[in-house]
Amino acid sequence: MLGKKYIVLGGNGFIGRNLCQYLAGLGVDITSFDREKIALDNGEVRFIQGDFFDDDYLQEMIQEYDVIFHAISTINPGNSNEKYMNGYGRDLVQTIKMCSWIKDTDKSMVFLSSGGTVYGNQELQPISEQMLPLPINHYGNVKLCIENALRIFQIQNAMNIRIARISNPFGPGQDYTKGVGFVDAALKRALENKTVEIWGDGENIRDYIYIEDVCGCLYQLAGYKGSEIVFNISSGKGVSQNQVIQYIRALGIDVNVEYKETRSVDVRKMILDNRKIRSICGNNLTPFEDGLKLYYAYLKENK
Ligand SMILES: NC(=O)c1ccc[n+]([C@@H]2O[C@H](COP(=O)([O-])OP(=O)(O)OC[C@H]3O[C@@H](n4cnc5c(N)ncnc54)[C@H](O)[C@@H]3O)[C@@H](O)[C@H]2O)c1
Repeated sequence: MLGKKYIVLGGNGFIGRNLCQYLAGLGVDITSFDREKIALDNGEVRFIQGDFFDDDYLQEMIQEYDVIFHAISTINPGNSNEKYMNGYGRDLVQTIKMCSWIKDTDKSMVFLSSGGTVYGNQELQPISEQMLPLPINHYGNVKLCIENALRIFQIQNAMNIRIARISNPFGPGQDYTKGVGFVDAALKRALENKTVEIWGDGENIRDYIYIEDVCGCLYQLAGYKGSEIVFNISSGKGVSQNQVIQYIRALGIDVNVEYKETRSVDVRKMILDNRKIRSICGNNLTPFEDGLKLYYAYLKENK
């Protein structure tokens, strides 16, 4: 995959920034595109500042690249029930426009979807890509709408598009104040002697995956040439919020927890079957405890 030009749309965000650094480490020709000011200017990652919603600019700029990672979303699971028109009116429409501008090329695109929200509440766990997605919030549904539009481009225009249904990533660069990231919130708040808020009884189960593993999977997905379109990107293991707290305490950190009312936007249990992505990326995923230790070490070093 060397020799190709890669771009990460949203390259300054949590996943985008980690992905850019990961690709740079592999010697990939990588550009980060974001509307926010430069975060990566280490010479290995080129940076372009611009607006994803600027049609003329995006249409011309995107032609330069062979591989596009689409990591921009204007909504998140926490705010999407108020801001859903941004999702349907802007994210969905703009992604379709972008596809229409590149559909007759041989570019590859990886869209960052949300394994944590597209499926909704499912009886059968771990959840495989074949299960019928039934999102319970607009964020998950916007992702699903975009996935469906991309699938049509893939079928009708023989585009090389992959959909990455990422579970619950955590690690360096995350910012829980944006509305997602329980591990980030719990660890940082505990380190600042602040109370950790849990909506519900703490037995909601999530499939946490260390961010570097996500980056490795995304890279492999960009080079994948098979017929599969949708991939869960996950650890395949479930950890409850109460267990996250226990793991943090096991690091010698005091945690004060306050349990609040359950939120309707949260599903009860979410473990994603990761056999498909592992068939491409291998089995070397970071166990949760090790990822937590790595992230704790990073936070101590980067106070
Ligand atoms: N973080 C998660 O837990 C998670 C899980 C699954 C999927 N995802 C998806 O992965 C993608 C990246 O997530 P993230 O957590 O890194 O998000 P993030 O909010 O940290 O980063 C998004 C980046 O996009 C940029 N951006 C937003 N609007 C833009 C615009 N108009 N023009 C240019 N840049 C713009 C922002 O400045 C930001 O740097 C999103 O699509 C998200 O829905 C995230």
